[in-house]
This record gives sequence, structure tokens and C-alpha cells, in this order.
Amino acid sequence: MSHTPRILMVSSEVESLARTGGLGDVVEALSLAVARGGAHVIVVTPLYGVSRVPKERTRWPRAVPVRHGWGADDVRHPGVVELETTHFPSGGTRRICLIDDPGLYARSGIYGDPWGTFGDNALRFAVLSRGALEIAGRAWDGGPDVIHAHDWHASLAVIYARTVMGERWARTPSVFTIHNLSFQGVLGEHMVDQLHVPRSLLTPSVLWHEGQVNLMKGATALADRVTTVSPTYAREILTPEGGFGLDEHLRAHSAKLVGIVNGIDTERFDPAKDGCLGFRFDAGTASHGRAACKKALRAELGLADGDGPLFATVSRLTWQKGIDLVLPLFADLVSRGAKVVVVGQGETWLEDQLVSAQARFPGDVAVRIAFDPALSRRVYAAADFFLVPSRFEPCGLTQLYAMRYGAIPIVTDVGGLHDTVQPASADGGAGTGFVAPRAEVGAMRAACVAACEVFGDREVMAKIRSRGMQADVSWNAPAREYRALYETLRRHA
Ligand code: GLC
Repeated sequence: MSHTPRILMVSSEVESLARTGGLGDVVEALSLAVARGGAHVIVVTPLYGVSRVPKERTRWPRAVPVRHGWGADDVRHPGVVELETTHFPSGGTRRICLIDDPGLYARSGIYGDPWGTFGDNALRFAVLSRGALEIAGRAWDGGPDVIHAHDWHASLAVIYARTVMGERWARTPSVFTIHNLSFQGVLGEHMVDQLHVPRSLLTPSVLWHEGQVNLMKGATALADRVTTVSPTYAREILTPEGGFGLDEHLRAHSAKLVGIVNGIDTERFDPAKDGCLGFRFDAGTASHGRAACKKALRAELGLADGDGPLFATVSRLTWQKGIDLVLPLFADLVSRGAKVVVVGQGETWLEDQLVSAQARFPGDVAVRIAFDPALSRRVYAAADFFLVPSRFEPCGLTQLYAMRYGAIPIVTDVGGLHDTVQPASADGGAGTGFVAPRAEVGAMRAACVAACEVFGDREVMAKIRSRGMQADVSWNAPAREYRALYETLRRHA
């Protein structure tokens, strides 16, 4: 009988503990889905000052030595805080281990604070990466079957295992997932000596990139498989437009690159059970339930009454997300009787423009500069249309949450948005949303105008909406793909 596979996941974010975006959602839900399917999964993540750690937890009796440099003293001794194990009928389990190193993590942010990005992030995430391997080596006799590292923060887990931890680790297969290629972990050359990375890796085929050390490049070079979070994004990152300077390198490794579209946790994101909503509904009761949610949201955000459509978005406010491509449309939408809601935080230039838009259209535009998961759910449940005007989007999760809650997405035709939203036909007979062919103001305007026209036809609206609500956006299919990938790697190991 083959033994239950042991998967080590390494991530800077886990949704229930600390998150800034989709990465945390994915690691939380994917780890559960993989364990549910019959695997032992350990997720290792830092214990930040901002982590919401549940009361049920234990502390490992001994600290774990974590080497993070070549010097005799370059060893830290963090504690390990472990949460209650989740058990599944399949025999699978999911454990979460937090690395407790207050000197590195006990701060008021994950990557930075209001004063900026932390200057020692390379060290902080080196300790995460190395610490994860040390923890897995102690939790499992013989270590994990597969290492699955997420985004640049965990790239050193792949690199250390392959190069400085001995035979057994060097043979342990690894998967590296790119959630967002625009963050690569770029460091000065001197950092390799401080981070226990062999100088021999400083070649253009591994870590060296445009005169600097590039951790994402190194991890994608050394991992056995590279995945990214949608098939279309997997193609886009091989092009100069989408490759953020790494397209040539990734093309050289394209044989081991695969795109697996993200899912969402359909148990925890379920409008029929969501405690954040004043009114709950399913696909059958959506029209009444959503009308009540819309009314409640208008009151909550100080919007005037009206019969027009509600356009909304929940987003990090960055260039990637293209909110500036819809800002110029607010006046037009409002003149058509629409209301607009924006919830999110990020770069000041966008926050400022949004706040002044709210001042210009009192009662018609509501902006909340906040990262507010509960309010976000009320927005998914209330909006008629959900805007995702991204310039690039590896997968995007908000369009999936929106569909699940019955808000019809209006998206650009990029990355995972292309893979998860099908253009609706005028009679509502097919499709789940509105798709702007390019990330441009004009294309978004046309998509929003088309949406306003459809809004007048309740039947067409209901058809498009209910197709979205019933689409399978769960982790079932994607988790199966990851499990198959782990299994292939394990067999070849
Ligand atoms: C990043 C990407 C987003 C993706 C998420 C989870 O936040 O920007 O598109 O959905 O990671 O994979």
C-alpha cells in the first residue's frame, strides 16, 4: 500500500492568520483541499505581530535551529507554535506551524508598516524558508515527499533544499507557485553571503539577473515544477509584455510550467450561510435576498435610494488592479442612475482620487479606504456588477467571490479573468459576465454600458447571475490537479 503523501507548504500568508491578498486565501484553502483528498499537509508561516492566532495551540518543547548565513553565529533559534490539526475522513491531515521569532516578525505588518517596506525582508523570509524545512524534517521522519513553496518569499525553501541541506533534501521534489510575477525578491549581490546561498548559483541561469540576485528566478530554475495560478497567465508570463523581465528565463523552463486555476473555499464563502450578511440567499432566492442586501449596503455606506444598478469593486489599490481605468467612468455611470462602491487600500495617488470622487458625487459614490473582509462580503452580496479592470491578473479571486454571491463580473480579458469569466450573450443564454477586450478606459466603458443595458432586463440579468452562482468555482478540480502533480513527482523521486 502506498503511504499517504506528505506535503510541506511554505507561505508568507495564510488567510485565517495573516493576509494582504489572494495568496493567503489560496494557501489556506488549497492546503485544506489537498488534505481532504488524502494527504498530510504541513503549512509553515511566520508568527507576525499581526497574526490572529487561535487559542487552541501548543508550543513545541524545543526551539528549532535555523541557519541563515555562513558564519558560525548565523543561526537563529525560533520557537514553533502549532495549531490544532484538521483531520479528514480520507485520513488526510492539515497542520499549521508558525515560526516564532519576535526579532524578525513581531511587528505591525507582514511586509512593511506605514513607514515603508521592512529593510530586512530577505532575512525574514530566509528564516521562514529554512525554518520550514527544519520543521518538516522534525515533524516527519524522512522529511516531506514534496516541498510546495509559494511566491518569492518562499523561494529559498526550494533553493536551500536543493543546494545546502544534504543529499536527502536535494532529492526531495519541489513545486514553486508564482502568484504574482511582479514581486521577485531582488537583492544586492552581497546578500548571497549573508543568506547561506552558494556563490556558485550566481549565474544568469539561476540567481543572477540584470546585475542583481533574483530569488524568484532561482526558485523557478531549481524547482521540479513551476505552477502559476491560471492557464492564461502561464502563457502570458512567457511573453515580454507579461514576463516582468523573466520571460526569456521562463521560456527556457516552459516544459515544467503549468497553469492551474485557483478555486475559492465555497463552504466559507456561501451567501446562504454567511454570518456577515443581514440577509442570506442561494441561487433560488437571490433576487429577494440580494435586493435586501443592496438596500442594507446603501444605508451602511450612506448612498441615496434609487432603482439603478450598483457597480462595486473590492481591491488592492495598485496599478495592477486598474482602478484608474474606471475612475473616469463614475460621472457617466452616475448620470445613468448607477451607484458606485469601492472598498480597498493601497497607493496614495489612487486613494486620493477615489476619496475626491466620493466628495464629488455624494450619495452616489461611496469609497471605503480599508481592508475589510466582512464589508467585502456584503459588497459581493449587494452589487449588481463587480468591476475587475486589472492590467494583469494571475488569477484573481474577487471575480469568483462576486459570482458566488450573485454579482455579475465586468473584467478585462487578461490572465485568470480570461479563464474564469465567459462573456455573456445579449439574450443571457450564455456566459457569466462582461469582458473588456483590453485594459483601457474605452473598453471598460463599453463593457459598463453593455451592463447598464442588460440591467433593464430582469430575466437576462437573472440568467447570467444564476449561471455565475452555480459555476463550479470550488477547489475540487484544481486540488485534484495539484495532487496529481505531487503524485507524479513523488513517483519519479
Ligand atoms: C496574487 C495575484 C492574484 C491571485 C492571487 C492568488 O494576489 O495578484 O491574481 O489570484 O495571488 O493566487
